[in-house]
Amino acid sequence: MRISKIEKEYLKKIKLFQKYNRHYYDKSNPQVSDSEFDSLKKEIIELEKKHKFLKSENSPSKSVGFTPSKNFKKVKHRIQMLSLSNVFNEEGLKNFEKKIRNFLSLKENVEIEYSAEPKIDGISASLTYKDGKFVQGLSRGDGKEGEDITENLKTIKDIPKIINKEKFPVEIDIRGEVFIENSDFEKINEKFANPRNAASGSLRQKDPVATNKIPLKFIAYTFGYAKGMNIKSQSNFLENLKKWGFKTNEYNKNIKGIKNLILNHQYLEKKRKEINFDIDGIVYKINDFDLQKRLGYVTNAPRWAVAHKFSANSSISEIINIEVQVGRTGALTPVAKIKPVNIGGVIVSNATLHNEDEIVRKDIRVGDTVTVERAGDVIPHVVSVDLVKRKKNSKKFIFPLKCPSCGSTTVKDFNEITKKEDAVRRCSSEGFECDQIAKEKIKHFVSKEAFNIDGLGKKIVENFWKLKLVKFPQDIFKLDYEKIKNLDGWGNLSTSNLKYAIESKKNIPLDKFIYSLGIRHIGQENAKLLARHLKTANNFFNLSLKKDIDELKNIDGIGDTQIKSIINFFLNKTNQKFLLELKKTLEIKDAIQLSHSGLLKNKTFMFTGKLEDMSRAEAKSIIEENSGKIISNVNKKLDYLIIGEKPTTKKINLAKELNIKIITQKEWLKMLN
Ligand code: IVH
Repeated sequence: MRISKIEKEYLKKIKLFQKYNRHYYDKSNPQVSDSEFDSLKKEIIELEKKHKFLKSENSPSKSVGFTPSKNFKKVKHRIQMLSLSNVFNEEGLKNFEKKIRNFLSLKENVEIEYSAEPKIDGISASLTYKDGKFVQGLSRGDGKEGEDITENLKTIKDIPKIINKEKFPVEIDIRGEVFIENSDFEKINEKFANPRNAASGSLRQKDPVATNKIPLKFIAYTFGYAKGMNIKSQSNFLENLKKWGFKTNEYNKNIKGIKNLILNHQYLEKKRKEINFDIDGIVYKINDFDLQKRLGYVTNAPRWAVAHKFSANSSISEIINIEVQVGRTGALTPVAKIKPVNIGGVIVSNATLHNEDEIVRKDIRVGDTVTVERAGDVIPHVVSVDLVKRKKNSKKFIFPLKCPSCGSTTVKDFNEITKKEDAVRRCSSEGFECDQIAKEKIKHFVSKEAFNIDGLGKKIVENFWKLKLVKFPQDIFKLDYEKIKNLDGWGNLSTSNLKYAIESKKNIPLDKFIYSLGIRHIGQENAKLLARHLKTANNFFNLSLKKDIDELKNIDGIGDTQIKSIINFFLNKTNQKFLLELKKTLEIKDAIQLSHSGLLKNKTFMFTGKLEDMSRAEAKSIIEENSGKIISNVNKKLDYLIIGEKPTTKKINLAKELNIKIITQKEWLKMLN
């Protein structure tokens, strides 16, 4: 058969598979029998095996099924399920510890103790026990809200259903990883790309009987909500987990000092092949719960833990083409389209080349033979070029000086801090004028961390864009549902689900709203800071009047770069128009103040000099936790100037002049009892 014919046939099958899939999961209305569905799946996979060039994101070998979002009840986690930040080497690890030392103001000679736990690459789940009974089990979902998969979890033998052991808390969410052992994965003939996908697919079967067919395992490692628990450290918690009847990882260890962490990392990386389940790194957690509490969280990861990934896998391939993609902020990212290769169990056909400078530095060209590296869930990238294999007629890659999407000139910003030109080249258009940027902005607007509109993924946004159903974010709220209903792949039910999902998100917290706008340099964390400071949507909209904007400098974390970016955002005519429309359509909830009744309510503070046993960052978070506010200038609004070692005389004098109370660190801590 000719290649084009094979491809045609393949794509036809994929399309059919998608249709069946949607009906099966989304509409709970299967169109064919299970066996017919399964044999179609097999046919596709067979074709892929025979003809390596065949691939599709919608292939059953890639996906574990249509996300069955409507099949499981959504339930909020009482305590958010966090993720972890990653480090890849000793340097990253040292930085991680340094930050902790700074935050806690720990002396060099104090050794930090960690619980080092292999990071299993599975699916995390949260199990609620009440009075010793397993009552509900949730998937992670987006960390805030998971799916109720209780019945499926009940089929897992490692999960105790009833616990009547000493010291087991009256109520607790036990958290851990659901996974499948490699030897079991080899036995099951269903085609999943890897054990992780198999575990995920099995766990989210509609029918718990189907889950029961694949031997899933569970290893416990942390907890969410807990009532009546008196445990002081992670290692002690892990010991108790065992006593209560949970399985824990046999390679968990308590370790002090970076050197020993590295030795353990090297040991486990070698051992990895012998272990019967996939691990992709080691999680380090500060062992002492009191220290964990002091360290707290940033956005959705704890300061007290980190994942130390194993080194990347790499393979050799050839660059077929270099495409330049335009991102939401206008950044032009070159991506190498490579001959598909298997890197550590995953077929890779795209590898990022980062930016223009990187291409120039490594002189990467179309046709080159390159080494491509991939580590965990990080985007694969080109590491090096094999110059010996370079073709004679190869030409230097010329980076486009015009935006490939809208044709505007491209620019490199000058970084005021590093006094260097940015490595990234950007489209100079004002955002929505460039189609590609506009599309990416809309994707960001509806994304999980922003408006979080269920069922409106990237592909659907692309499609709606193509059909001219959306051009600006506000169009999301005025969709032509009659038209959508009749689109290929859509029907009454899916359309009304989408409508419901969109309507329900019209009421949005201020921080999410600010984040959704995709203002450059305003990520989740900064959006939160701004919202907390501004309190109401009106205050935010009024920033466009520019009079209050400099006041934002009082927020620790917001600097000149951010303020300049906000000003630019409000100056743009299209932005002004779409903000106005959103203001009319949405109900934006005031920012939740951290606590309304703290001991430092309505009081403002400023520090000068070095504090004892505590960093500024920790002091600041204590003040905020108790409803106080930090300001960065001595002015009439300041209530207390807290002085540490070697304070600035100028600040003290000014405070005296303005009759501001000057107190010591001890006096301040007394205010908090
Ligand atoms: S603790 C701080 N401990 O890694 C809380 N996570 O990126 C985070 N994981 O979603 C969870 N082994 O699926 C923790 N010993 C371990 C873990 C572990 C694997 C996974 C888990 C989580 C992800 C975090």
